Amino acid sequence: MKKNAAAISSSTFSIRTRLRRNRRTDAIRQGLSETHLALENLVMPLFICEGCKESTPIKAMPGISRMSTDLSLEEIEKCLKLGLKSFAIFPAISDDKKSSQATEATNEKGLGIQCLKKIRDEFPEAVLYADVALDPFSSDGHDGLVKNGKIINDESVAVLVEMALLQAAVGADYVAPSDMMDGRIGAIRSALDKAGFVDTGIMAYSAKYASSFYGPFREALASAPKFGDKKTYQMDYRNRREAHREVRLDINEGADIVMVKPALSYLDVILSLRQRFDIPIAAYNVSGEYAMIKFAAQAGAIDGEKAALECLTSIRRAGADLIFTYFAKEMAQKMAALL
Ligand code: PBG
Repeated sequence: MKKNAAAISSSTFSIRTRLRRNRRTDAIRQGLSETHLALENLVMPLFICEGCKESTPIKAMPGISRMSTDLSLEEIEKCLKLGLKSFAIFPAISDDKKSSQATEATNEKGLGIQCLKKIRDEFPEAVLYADVALDPFSSDGHDGLVKNGKIINDESVAVLVEMALLQAAVGADYVAPSDMMDGRIGAIRSALDKAGFVDTGIMAYSAKYASSFYGPFREALASAPKFGDKKTYQMDYRNRREAHREVRLDINEGADIVMVKPALSYLDVILSLRQRFDIPIAAYNVSGEYAMIKFAAQAGAIDGEKAALECLTSIRRAGADLIFTYFAKEMAQKMAALL
């Protein structure tokens, strides 16, 4: 005999395990949630430019601007008030200051070091990650020095070491080499220790992939490579085992935190590193990932705020401790509004 749906009762068949019981109310769901995203996990990247009272919106990153040091200080103050305490500093210098030797990278009086110093002096409580790489300063737009069309490793490392020492001297909490040259973590650790900067940490961009998701960032710093691509130093996105090798090396060379970058297409890499290593892991939710959500939201295709929260939570679920994200301030504002 055929029965209609209403006639089916628990006595007619029994489902002993019903996972929906644990999803029944918001309070139940909150209590059982496995992943927590807190402001303390987020790091806000800031683009700094020369001048005074300068603020230039970055077209490919709605809501994000390049700001002169004075305005950046105000921005940091606002973030700190919201409870957001960590910042990654990226200086953008004018084209006429860029050179093939990237000499501005190691100019003690240059924008990068000076703005870091001002931020440090004004906000002792902030956690500051200083970017170590040559692309913002190189007329070639590469992370290392170029010789005969090749990015040369060891000579680049020597400059990166010098850059990291200057950043440590003005009080960076972490120097963060994003250049992907071989051996730079060990070289920087030795130099820091020798100079007495034993408390300065190294946040290594260990598994940084050659990615098309960096496009908007390169607009922000006008740092796109002038020839070729970055595939001879950044990783091939087809590889995961290689990320283990990079991380293992960086740990042995003295890294305090390792990073996977980008984040969203690389959640498997984060997870497998999490399972294999005990070191803190950071993930960089990069500019292109930010832009995708922003533009999709602007087009009315998705709810941008919810999508951002979902993406950031997924990065935590994969196993990242820290997330570098352009959504950090927005998240801080949202969380403050909930209090
Ligand atoms: C370069 C650097 C890049 C980013 C951070 N540091 C881009 C690149 O490798 O060309 C990208 C960050 C982002 O896209 O948000 N040292």
